[in-house]
Amino acid sequence: MVNPGKEAAATAALSYVEDNMYVGLGTGSTAKIFIEKLAQRVKDENLTITCAATSIFSAELAASLGLKVVPLDDVDELDINVDGADEVDPQLNGIKGGGAALFYEKIVAKTAKKNIWIVDPSKQSEQLGSFKLPIEVLPFGSKHVFNYLKHDLNLDPTFRLQADGSLLTTDSDNYIIDVDVAKIDNLYELADELIRHVGILEHGLFMDICDILIVGDEPAQIIERQN
Ligand code: 5RP
Repeated sequence: MVNPGKEAAATAALSYVEDNMYVGLGTGSTAKIFIEKLAQRVKDENLTITCAATSIFSAELAASLGLKVVPLDDVDELDINVDGADEVDPQLNGIKGGGAALFYEKIVAKTAKKNIWIVDPSKQSEQLGSFKLPIEVLPFGSKHVFNYLKHDLNLDPTFRLQADGSLLTTDSDNYIIDVDVAKIDNLYELADELIRHVGILEHGLFMDICDILIVGDEPAQIIERQN
């Protein structure tokens, strides 16, 4: 069933796309709607758009719809990157990785001049932490990383599983550990702590990355990050 909020946000993001742009494609159900609409617009207006994607799923979807998709390393810089989010606060900091794509999502985001997040109103929150924070860890030694998250940081970790009960693996063959950050006051400090720990590849705290948040309301609400 179509979520009108996601649909409205994805539609509004289309207006940021201009001919000859390099566009980052996010991952998730809202990003999927954007990719479908972008492909239609590129066809209708005969635009020249080059895309880099944040997951194998989004890359394959975009290519199947006729969009030109290239590896991220073939691109110097993306003009815009359009992605969803799991939770976003009033400063436009967010938690991402619900779709297990956080590592690709962050490196694509860092390659973009402008990051646009498209969300339905349910993703907005006064303080981050209602969504569990995903952390991508290398499989080797992951039990030790789990124990560090549990005993040293007290973050109530759980390995993310697939429907059949096996460990979920990401597009780069790593594991996801979800942790509870609801009681953490300083998420910048936590982000620094996590990224310095051996075995952690990346975490889903996206601080100071989103430039424009589009909330799919009637009409869509556009919020720009204040620096
Ligand atoms: C994937 C993500 C997605 O952007 C996030 O999960 C939002 O997904 P959706 O648009 O389906 O609500 O971070 O890793």
